[in-house]
Amino acid sequence: MADTWESLKSACGQCDGCALAQTRSTVVFGDGATDAEILLIGEGPGQREDEQGVPFVGKAGQLLDDMLEIIGLDRTKVYIANVVKCRPPQNRDPLNVEQDACKDWLRRQTALLRPKLIVCLGRIAAKAIIKEDFKITSEHGRWFSRGGVQMTAIYHPAALLRDVGKRPETFEDLKSIQAKIQELCTHTDL
Ligand code: URA
Repeated sequence: MADTWESLKSACGQCDGCALAQTRSTVVFGDGATDAEILLIGEGPGQREDEQGVPFVGKAGQLLDDMLEIIGLDRTKVYIANVVKCRPPQNRDPLNVEQDACKDWLRRQTALLRPKLIVCLGRIAAKAIIKEDFKITSEHGRWFSRGGVQMTAIYHPAALLRDVGKRPETFEDLKSIQAKIQELCTHTDL
């Protein structure tokens, strides 16, 4: 049967496709507008997200909200999901086997959303979504086209919390995303 947002979320909420199912509190499916033209993809839930079941609600999430505000966006105008839906213990990078086990959920979310733009948040998402050998330090802010969808990656908000020196480049990347939205999107009034 064809997916609906409700059926997909419900099935994902019962997933035991990898070992992360044993240690998670909550599956973090996604957040935002299910008719958004812009899909943001993070790495995986942290502690707060695991507790609340919502992506990007911890410190990095607060910075993400501020970054969105800079370009006139908020969570009602985008959809936010992660490469893995369950928290890796101690916030380690998700293993390839965990990413592989989880990728069909994101594929099906993307198929339902049909975004015009995808913004990867950080190295892990960029490697999973744009290309395996993506180099975040040299390729952030660059645009890639896949099947009619424009994709880019920016530094992960957690990296911007650790290293404020990366913020000016990210500001430029955000401006480029804003320009792309103005060019391609109709739902956002930027
Ligand atoms: N970092 C991520 O990549 N995703 C979240 O949901 C929270 C923090």
